[in-house]
Amino acid sequence: MIPSPVPRLAVIVVAAGSGTRLAGGAPKAFVGLDEHTILRHALRGVFAAPRAQVVVVVPAGFEGPALTDALEVAGDRTALVSVVPGGATRQSSVAAGLAALWADVDTVLVHDAARALTPPAVFERVVAALERGADAVIPAVPVVDTIKRVDATGAIVAAVDRSELAAAQTPQGFRRGVLEEALASADADHTDDAALVAAAGHDVITVDGDAVSFKITTSPDLDRARALLSAPVPAAHPSPPQRTPRVGIGTDVHGFGGEGTLWLAGLEWPGEPALSGHSDGDAVAHAIVDAVLAAAGLGDIGTHFGTDRPEFAGAHAEAFLAHTRNLVAAAGWRIGNVSVQVQANRPRFASRRDEAERVLSAALGGAPVSVSATTTDGLGFTGRTEGVAAFATALVVPV
Ligand code: CTP
Ligand code: MG
Repeated sequence: MIPSPVPRLAVIVVAAGSGTRLAGGAPKAFVGLDEHTILRHALRGVFAAPRAQVVVVVPAGFEGPALTDALEVAGDRTALVSVVPGGATRQSSVAAGLAALWADVDTVLVHDAARALTPPAVFERVVAALERGADAVIPAVPVVDTIKRVDATGAIVAAVDRSELAAAQTPQGFRRGVLEEALASADADHTDDAALVAAAGHDVITVDGDAVSFKITTSPDLDRARALLSAPVPAAHPSPPQRTPRVGIGTDVHGFGGEGTLWLAGLEWPGEPALSGHSDGDAVAHAIVDAVLAAAGLGDIGTHFGTDRPEFAGAHAEAFLAHTRNLVAAAGWRIGNVSVQVQANRPRFASRRDEAERVLSAALGGAPVSVSATTTDGLGFTGRTEGVAAFATALVVPV
């Protein structure tokens, strides 16, 4: 069944090679990097990148294991995955992938499974360049070795100016029609799609690739990829493909007795007694801030909004939440959703719950916020209407 909405973008992951140079005892994409295959690591990056139809092209007979790998890392995108058998050359494998695209797809990325550690950011850069109007885009990195042209005997014929060179990587992105026409008119076999499209007369532009996108070709490449995966990830530079969604919890309590009117859950409540606190005493907003910061591993409200930050002294929820969202985004996280429960006798949330959810969600940049409220059967400080308590959980996902 074709999912709705049908993506306009597709990623063809070519994994049908035999891996002759690696000689890993199985087709290259099915060689283990750790407890998971090269293919599975490559697909992790694909599914962390912008939403797309994903066509995995594998050697005939490997469709089952490939589908298992894909479904286990697809998250909520399992309906976007298909697996097809490839051909004898990379180019024919790309053609097999193209034949499986849905009609609505107008932009195609072709990615080598052998580039198992490609970060999602590389996909994003390629997609962004296509969105700006390019027909063909490839990620590339500068060449670091000094390059020589040699003849058949190995003698140096000429030096090559390194500054004019770039090493091509994948995913390579194309308007679908451009790639299809180039394939249909190809009269030679090319080792990448950019060469094919350039041979058909199209301009190809580059965006920044990434050193960790290297292609696993030989045994030392495999060792390098394995070493990268087992190395401890420095906290300041977490590697995006290895990060998983994270949850956090936050609570806050404020007593009635503040000045002015009540501010709670980002709303002003005329006629209700105000809460006391350093800012407006909005326990709901403060619990959310703690939950989101905890999820992202960024400390807590005191770390970022302490009494040494006078600009937040009288601030309302919006300022706290917007700043929190920016902190989290700067650390490479997107807020998935937030759930917050208020324990209080008053105010009564039922009639303003939707409004509170809208305001809080908007302040967090659109992440869904669910607000629920309960009383405590007359028990405790909330039951005696001395104050309110709020409990929040938040999910953040790596970007
Ligand atoms: N590929 C493919 N179909 C082929 C050949 C290659 O889908 N007939 C894919 C590979 O699976 C790989 C990518 O194209 O992900 C880049 O190719 P390469 O690194 O050359 O892989 P292999 O062809 O498998 O390796 P070798 O050339 O050493 O046999
Ligand atoms: Mg090959």
